[in-house]
Order: sequence, then structure tokens, then C-alpha cells
Amino acid sequence: MCGIVGYIGNKEAKKILLDGLCELEYRGYDSAGIAIMQQGDVSLFKAVGKLANLAAVSDGFESKGFALGIGHTRWATHGKPTEANAHPHIGENSFVVHNGIIENYAAIKEELIKEGINFLSQTDTEVIGHLFEKNLKKTNDSLEALRLTQEQLEGAYAVLIITKFENEKIFFMKKGSPPLLIGTSKNNDEIYFASSESVLIGQADGAIFLKEDDYGFVKKDEVKIFNHGEEVAFQVKKIEGTRAGAQKEGYRYFMEKEIYEQSAVLVDTMMGRVSKDRIVLEELAALGDLSQFREIKICACGTSYHAAIAATYMFERNSKIRASAEIASEFRYKEPFLSKDMLFVVISQSGETADTLEALKIAKNAGLKTLAVCNVDNSTIVRESDATILTRAGIEKGVASTKAFATQMLVFWMLSIVLAEKKGSMSNEAIKKEIETILKAKDAVVVEPAMHERLKRLSKRYLHGHGFFFIGRDIFYPLALEGALKLKEITYLHAEGYPAGEMKHGPIALADSELFTIALLPKTLLYDKTKSNIEELSARDSTIVAISPSEFDIADDFIKTKVWDHYMLEFFEMMVVVQILSLEVAVRLGNDVDMPRNLAKSVTVE
Ligand code: G6P
Repeated sequence: MCGIVGYIGNKEAKKILLDGLCELEYRGYDSAGIAIMQQGDVSLFKAVGKLANLAAVSDGFESKGFALGIGHTRWATHGKPTEANAHPHIGENSFVVHNGIIENYAAIKEELIKEGINFLSQTDTEVIGHLFEKNLKKTNDSLEALRLTQEQLEGAYAVLIITKFENEKIFFMKKGSPPLLIGTSKNNDEIYFASSESVLIGQADGAIFLKEDDYGFVKKDEVKIFNHGEEVAFQVKKIEGTRAGAQKEGYRYFMEKEIYEQSAVLVDTMMGRVSKDRIVLEELAALGDLSQFREIKICACGTSYHAAIAATYMFERNSKIRASAEIASEFRYKEPFLSKDMLFVVISQSGETADTLEALKIAKNAGLKTLAVCNVDNSTIVRESDATILTRAGIEKGVASTKAFATQMLVFWMLSIVLAEKKGSMSNEAIKKEIETILKAKDAVVVEPAMHERLKRLSKRYLHGHGFFFIGRDIFYPLALEGALKLKEITYLHAEGYPAGEMKHGPIALADSELFTIALLPKTLLYDKTKSNIEELSARDSTIVAISPSEFDIADDFIKTKVWDHYMLEFFEMMVVVQILSLEVAVRLGNDVDMPRNLAKSVTVE
């Protein structure tokens, strides 16, 4: 989704804004812009496409001495990705960057047009600057004008405004899910803004996480936060860490690097949690007695939703507890039936996904205990949940999620065993065996050079066709969904994930030689059943790519995986195979693997 940065102080503002946007670019990248004000003069730069274009158009500009600036990288919601629609948007004298959606923008725009305001873009954002200026004219008080503006704007948003009327202040306001942070400095002589903590690392000393309905302003040595007309106190959290974690380190793409990192991050995710014969997830203490839960409901979006479906198989099989998964955007409006003995789980890599956050709020309001499985500490979803298990995948930059999914799967596997122990649904012996297997997951995701090479070679045969079906049974069905999603996201080829046994109920009608079936055929789970389903497709001349440890003579292409004695180890190895296959097809098609078209890493609008 869109990224926001801001700076006020004596350093060179353009560099700080561009560096910050660079950190956020993977979230939304159809256009970008910055506005820098010095002594009331504003320099505005915008460019369509990647940040390099903005750097090029602003080349030659430098701020000298005190300056304040705002910047934005966009993921279009209203209006095409054009220069006119890129932020910052301008009023008469004010400049605005915005992440989120102004739901009532059309009505406000109509009103403003009637009053003679001329609009330059198709965005919802543009109303903010004009409305703020209208309120300013009325009140002659910029803070009051901001409060009124916030009151009039419906939706979910994080906004920064600079205005020539107050050339030493940056104004801000926040409503709903889009995050906004203020970064403070050690010497109290500069202030940063960002929509993600990662931007502040290595720049600011502390971070203030703005809350629902906060608004206010900063000067270079002062932060003033208000909420519904009252000034509020705030906490500053110390910022730790370095930016070094997010470099490509010799890999062609972040996605590739992240696939190769999976073994290491699985080890991190297990650290301090898994010993030889026990799994301890201390984080669960915040939920109270686990035996109170008779059912688990999991909500998520995208890849995290696929982990949610996979988790239901593990909870029912291992922990003997009823479990269901729902897409968060569906759950929100279906008037869900929730009961107090239900544990409500949300999964999110970013911790900022608007639909998932709203689902979480619905569960909280219904009085349910909530657990987040999340990769970003301090994210909104983490802060809103009763308990959190962090997935420890590290920063994931590739828009197509890989290592975050791997760690989500591992967390749910561990959690299902913890619940199994608690409920006595597995014998001690079985639990011990399961833990021994969990400890091997890191080996199953190691990328073997020969396997990568084979997939690279094979990828050239799969650059066309009228569609891909990824098929699998049981927990390999959500893996099939995830494989298809990976392929769609970065190759733009049409792909579907299907339960292998369901193909005969309709989809098989599509089968011909140009329909590519990617078959997940593990040896340790429903081998014969899945094999029969693949044979049915082969008989209709679908081109079959079988992924299996056992030779399969009817496959057109065969990808041989290792022999494992547990289906989850087969799952993890096949997960890597489908990730790399998508990556290599996308590379051959010349696509931008890390920033595929139309997508955003963190979707903070509904
Ligand atoms: C976006 C991303 C997906 C991700 C989904 C859910 O659509 O492009 O990769 O799976 O959001 O994100 P979350 O951060 O909640 O896991």
C-alpha cells in the first residue's frame, strides 16, 4: 500500500525523504512524489513509476539549512497511476500525502466544486488539502481547521500536511488502520514521519505510534498530539536495529533471497520454543487457560489465508479441536456467529492488513480471546491482540510472500502440538516424534542447487498455455492454493489451486494439452488417491508436472523431491519447489519479481 515519509530539521531533506521512500517502495510503487518547504517556498516533484524516476526529476535540487518535507509512494485506489494523481496533492497553499481511503470524498468534492474549487486529479486525497484550507479560512486557526477536517473525513487514513501559512510545522492526522509513526531525535532538533518503523531505523532515536483519531503537529523540537479536541500524552519507544537486514546480498531478487533464507528463519522461529521433547509458547500465557477453547476460528488474507487453511488441518488432526479459516474481508460483513469458547486467531505478515485488523476488532468486540500470528512486532494487529506469536521471518521485501508463509506454517504446527499436549489428544510418544520432525523442517526447506537448476530449465516450457491448475489433497490443498497464488502474483499467468479430488466436478472440463497441471504428490499422505486424480487429468491430455519423491511415468515433467517420513517435511520441500518454479517463470517473462504490477506488500485499505 502507499508509503508516507516526512522530515523537519536541518539535514538535507530530499535525501532523507527519498531514502525513506526507498525503504517503503516495495509496498506500493506506481508513482511517487515529495514536497519540500523552505521559508515558505515549496519545491514539488512527482514521477510515475519507480522511485528512480522521482530521483531523476528531483536531481539537482538540494535543501540547505532548515526545511520540512513530505513524501509518498503510491498504490492507486482512486484514479490511474499518472503524475497528476501522484501525491503530494495541492490545495491553494497546502500539500498533502495520504495513505488509506476517504470514503466520502465524492460528496466533499462536489461541494467544493460548487464553491469554485478546481480539482487537478481523480484522487480522493485531493479533497483533504482543499477542505483543510476551507476550514482554515473559516477558523483562522490551523489546528482547529485540522480537527474539523478530520471530523468531516470518513474512511481510514494517515495524512501529512504542510502549508505555506505555517512554514515551521508539519500537520498530521490518523483514522482507522493505516499506520503513522513520528520519529524523534536524540538532540530534540529534528522529527521524522513514516508509515512503517523500518524507515525510522538508523535515522530516528525513538518512535511514537499514533493512535486512532490522533491529530496534531510537529515543529523540529516539539510534538503536539490531540484527540477529539484534547491534547494527549504519548509514549516514545526506543528504536533498535539496523537497516542492513534488507539488502539483496548477491541474489537477483529479494524474493529469491527470502526463499533461500527459509531454513535460517525456521531455526529462528523455533529458538527458545522447541526443545527435544517439549514445545513451549510462553506467549500463550496471555490467553489464560487454553482448555477453555473448544473451537478455533482463523482469519487472514492472501498468503496468510492459505496458512490459515493449512492450520485448520493441523488443529483438527493433531489437537482434535474444531477449526475453521475465513477470508477476513468476507468475515467482516457476514454477521459471523461467534461464541465465547472460540479462540480467534489472525495471521498477518505485515500486521497492518485492514481487513484482518477489522476482523480482529469484531472478535474483540464480541468478547473473544484473540491471538495474532504476525511477523512485525509493534504492528497494529500485534498491539490490538491479547497475545501474539511472532513469526521471526525478518523483513520480507518481495511482494510475493515466501519466508513469512514458511514461518507461519511452522508456528501453527508448533501450536497444534502445544494444544495436543494440553488436550491430551496425542500420546507423549507421538508428541516426541512430532517434535523430532519439527526440528527437521529447516532441512526440508534448504534449496539444493541441482533442484534450483532443474526448475530454471523447466520453467521455459511454462511461459504460455491457457492456465495452470495446482492440485493437492489434504494440507497439500492449501499449498496448491499458495503455489497458484505465487504464480499469478509474479508471472501474471492464470492459475488456480484446487483440491485434487474436486477436479472431476467441473474444472476437468478445461483439460487439454495447454492446461498445465502442477500436481503435489507426496508419498506419505493420500498418495494413491492423489495419483488417481492426476491420472484422470492425464487421460484428458492435460500437461502434467508432478512433484513427488516417487517416479511417476505419466508425468510430462517430473520434479523429484526427497524421501521424507512425514508429510509436513514433504510439504515444506514442495513449498520451496513451487516458489522457485514461479520465480523462474517470472524471470523468463521479464517481470519485476519483487514489485509485480498492481500489487502492494501491505494492504491498509479494505
Ligand atoms: C497483500 C500481499 C500478500 C499478502 C496479503 C496479506 O495482498 O501482497 O502477499 O499475503 O496482503 O498480508 P498480511 O501482511 O496480512 O499477511
